[in-house]
Amino acid sequence: MPVRPPHSAADFAAYYQLRYRVLRQPWDQPQGSERADDDEAPTTIHALYTAADGRVAGVARLHPSGPRQAQVRYMAVDDAYQGQGIGRQLLDYLEAAARRQGLTECVLHARQSAVPFYERQGYHIVAPSHTLFGSIPHFLMRKDL
Ligand SMILES: CC(C)(COP(=O)(O)OP(=O)(O)OC[C@H]1O[C@@H](n2cnc3c(N)ncnc32)[C@H](O)[C@@H]1OP(=O)(O)O)[C@@H](O)C(=O)NCCC(=O)NCCS
Repeated sequence: MPVRPPHSAADFAAYYQLRYRVLRQPWDQPQGSERADDDEAPTTIHALYTAADGRVAGVARLHPSGPRQAQVRYMAVDDAYQGQGIGRQLLDYLEAAARRQGLTECVLHARQSAVPFYERQGYHIVAPSHTLFGSIPHFLMRKDL
């Protein structure tokens, strides 16, 4: 199964490195800015995709954000591996984990460029949300699980 939780210190290093490289470095954000306070919370679920060549090609996480609600954050697929179904597999994995916990809806704040990807996975725009780094519009999206 190419999608699994990170376990070892090396797994977590690769996990955060990819998150940084895809979601922070292109906007000159400092190392460490890719981390969130609740990354180490026991209720946060991390997913890591290992490609056939052994490289970590995609990462994502999910946490419970309400009594019945999950939120996906930090979805990132390496440029070289985009468009191969990795994002979809990461999302499927996290949604399945949320369902097992009895969560019935999933929300996320999507970058404008990623909105069509999430729409393909069954999400709908609820409302415009924040603009990241002064230049990346986001949209609140949700899906019934
Ligand atoms: C958005 C992202 C996670 C998608 O992952 P991916 O592995 O490239 O996507 P997949 O190959 O799983 O795509 C699944 C489907 O969505 C479609 N899709 C993916 N990205 C798309 C896009 N930007 N526009 C339109 N369709 C898209 C694919 O064509 C595919 O369609 P199919 O169901 O007909 O096969 C990835 O491109 C990425 O990391 N982008 C940069 C960082 C980013 O924006 N992260 C999201 C932050 S909210």
